[in-house]
Amino acid sequence: MIILAIETSCDETSAAVLKVNRGQLELLSNIVSSQIDIHKQYGGVVPEVAARHHIKNIIPVISEALNKAKIKPEKIDLLATTAGPGLMTSLLIGAETAKALSYAWGKPLLAINHMYSHIAANFYNNKIKFPAVCLVVSGGHTELIHLKSYWQLKKIGQTIDDAVGEAFDKVSKLLGLGYPGGPIISAYAEKYRTDLKFPTIKLPRPMLNSKDFNFSFSGLKTAVLYASQKFVHHDEDFKIAMAHAFQEAAVEVLVTKTIKAAKKLKVKTIFMAGGVAANKQLREALKNEAIKNGYEFFVPEFKLCTDNAAMVAIAACYLSQKKIVKIDNYKNIKTDPNWELL
Ligand code: KG4
Ligand code: ZN
Repeated sequence: MIILAIETSCDETSAAVLKVNRGQLELLSNIVSSQIDIHKQYGGVVPEVAARHHIKNIIPVISEALNKAKIKPEKIDLLATTAGPGLMTSLLIGAETAKALSYAWGKPLLAINHMYSHIAANFYNNKIKFPAVCLVVSGGHTELIHLKSYWQLKKIGQTIDDAVGEAFDKVSKLLGLGYPGGPIISAYAEKYRTDLKFPTIKLPRPMLNSKDFNFSFSGLKTAVLYASQKFVHHDEDFKIAMAHAFQEAAVEVLVTKTIKAAKKLKVKTIFMAGGVAANKQLREALKNEAIKNGYEFFVPEFKLCTDNAAMVAIAACYLSQKKIVKIDNYKNIKTDPNWELL
């Protein structure tokens, strides 16, 4: 089976081709055209600008994905597109293009939930032992998902305010370090040394000991703001120390709560998904704690953590095993910026 998938939920235009042969998945191409350099100047994603760039990029990106995979449209068995959640104007470009291709090529089209795609990135040639718990951490979401199988998912906790990726982005802005904040804060935190001529900055661990599996990151961001106001000189050492303190606090809360959920739900496997799963410290910390406590651990390779169409194709591969997709299914597909996974 050959799957062509499209992803345009935010500011990356992406298309990927996946080959599925007797349960073995082979990614033939995964083209991602990022708009980071464009949105950088505004300090965040501007939906109207993102949509205009998706329109310009979508056909070249799809062509490149097919060319790189050496696949002609007639060889495609299934089309897949992200239909939500995300920015409405961004989602529409990918989904409407996919619908037009489905009609023109006579190929079935499956609508995929963006959060399920992030989770499914972990299924790429990994045999997951269920039950499992997945920590989903992105720019818009921070959730703990309980999985009884590849298809049975239940949200057991989420952020009550900001997503952790959003907190990374806001802290970076606050420190004058630019956008997107995740990779920048992470790079600054990595430069931290104990011999820095800088006082240790203490930040809170919000909801660390709450009985539920919810998170809160807006207070942590405010704590960074207040702590910053105490220091007059915001030199490089200060920024390194603050980035380190923030990342430590965020990682500790995420790891502690994920392990707590794994114990309570008696799962066999822990895995992680979303853009913030590209964070090195979080990857290492969660892996270490998971293994120490006897769980299997998975995290997608870096390029499958942030938005990309390969994860949409992987999700489509699993969902199509459960559901027959009719050739005219494109008629039923509607984009939904708030599509809840569960
Ligand atoms: O999943 P994603 O690409 O898009 C959404 O669906 O939101 O996630 C983007 C988020 C941004 O907030 C970005 O700052 C964060 O992921 N991110 C990171 C890292 N790389 C991306 N956060 C922490 N460390 C990173 N290395
Ligand atoms: Zn995403």
